[in-house]
Amino acid sequence: MSIEEQKKAAAVAALDYIENGMKVGLGTGSTANYFIDALGERVKGGLDVLCVPTSIASEERARELGIPLSTLDDTPELDVTVDGADEILEGPLVLIKGGGGALTREKIVASSSKKMVVIADAGKLKSAGDFGAFPLPVEILPFGARATILKMRRAIEKLGMSGELVVREKNGGEAFVTDNGGFIVDCHLGHVTQPEKLAGKLRRIPGVVEQGLFVGIASVALVATDEGVRVLEKQA
Ligand code: A5P
Repeated sequence: MSIEEQKKAAAVAALDYIENGMKVGLGTGSTANYFIDALGERVKGGLDVLCVPTSIASEERARELGIPLSTLDDTPELDVTVDGADEILEGPLVLIKGGGGALTREKIVASSSKKMVVIADAGKLKSAGDFGAFPLPVEILPFGARATILKMRRAIEKLGMSGELVVREKNGGEAFVTDNGGFIVDCHLGHVTQPEKLAGKLRRIPGVVEQGLFVGIASVALVATDEGVRVLEKQA
């Protein structure tokens, strides 16, 4: 199975978690797009759901498919959110998210849901020994960005880690700007051994809007492999 086929298989498997009448958070990214497409088919077939998207891109995709949409202001409690991830730590289901830059809205929406279902291809599943190779995305305010990044570097070093912190750019060299008007700093740490501590330290820095470690939010991960879709429940 190609990676795209795996993403699609995981996305389709997530339909098992959707019931008539549910309020559903829609993730962002290529895997979440497969889910939005599959959900759109079900909606055409008569499924009744109300969905809250985590990005402008997902909102536009869902709207084109005729999926009924709401906002978190109008619908502040959701039944389930289905979203992708950049890395999944097997066991506690800690995630690294934000490869697409939507981590802040993704975290707000997922944490407003009774359940977060993560969908991914097999390459995203990591063990404690290799978690954190994907650069950790952190959304910051443009105001005082250099000062914020300096504080982030110090916080990271206090935990005995190091690595390059790079402001994400679009093609052409301009800073990438999120749907919230923020910048993304990609922290190339190589390996994250204490995700909860790192999340806590980064969160406390003024200017940091949100960081891409999702700790204790995901309930189940659907990871597609060549042998089928593995269902991984969060372990305490
Ligand atoms: C978007 O900001 C991200 O959190 C995505 O969910 C994550 O990057 C996974 O994206 P893909 O499904 O495209 O790999």
